Amino acid sequence: MDNEFEPKLLAFVCNWCTYAGADLTGTSRIKYASNVKIVRFPCTGRIDFMLVLKAFANGADGVIVSGCHPNDCHYTSGNFHARRRWMLFRELLDFMGIDVRRIRFSWVSAAEGAKWADVVNSTVAAIRELGPYTDYQKAASYLAGNEDVLLNEKEVTL
Ligand code: FES
Repeated sequence: MDNEFEPKLLAFVCNWCTYAGADLTGTSRIKYASNVKIVRFPCTGRIDFMLVLKAFANGADGVIVSGCHPNDCHYTSGNFHARRRWMLFRELLDFMGIDVRRIRFSWVSAAEGAKWADVVNSTVAAIRELGPYTDYQKAASYLAGNEDVLLNEKEVTL
């Protein structure tokens, strides 16, 4: 039996580009690591980074956030908002002691099925090198103190 660590990855993707790109990966029969579970959002601009913390608090070893390329966002500028939010979120993760290499931010269009496979495969390889994420209490304790922020954001997105 192979005892190699199999990372658990969660991917938050936008509906219009990366989700369609991931679908193309499948219909093109391009093989890629099965370690990732995809959560589809209308746009990366709607992805609350508290959800990324929640993923870590619930056992994810790594997270991918991916959407349309700059200037291709279906809602014009959602991906720019996401990128700006990500720059701030990186500092928060750093402050909390969570290794930012566990999160991958990428642009994958609906025509880039091969790129999606590459993003997943390379992220799985990188997380495999880092090993399992065992500090989930850090993410959980931050969430416990800010649950209302997450709930409020969730109400807005419904
Ligand atoms: Fe894809 Fe906005 S619709 S990032």
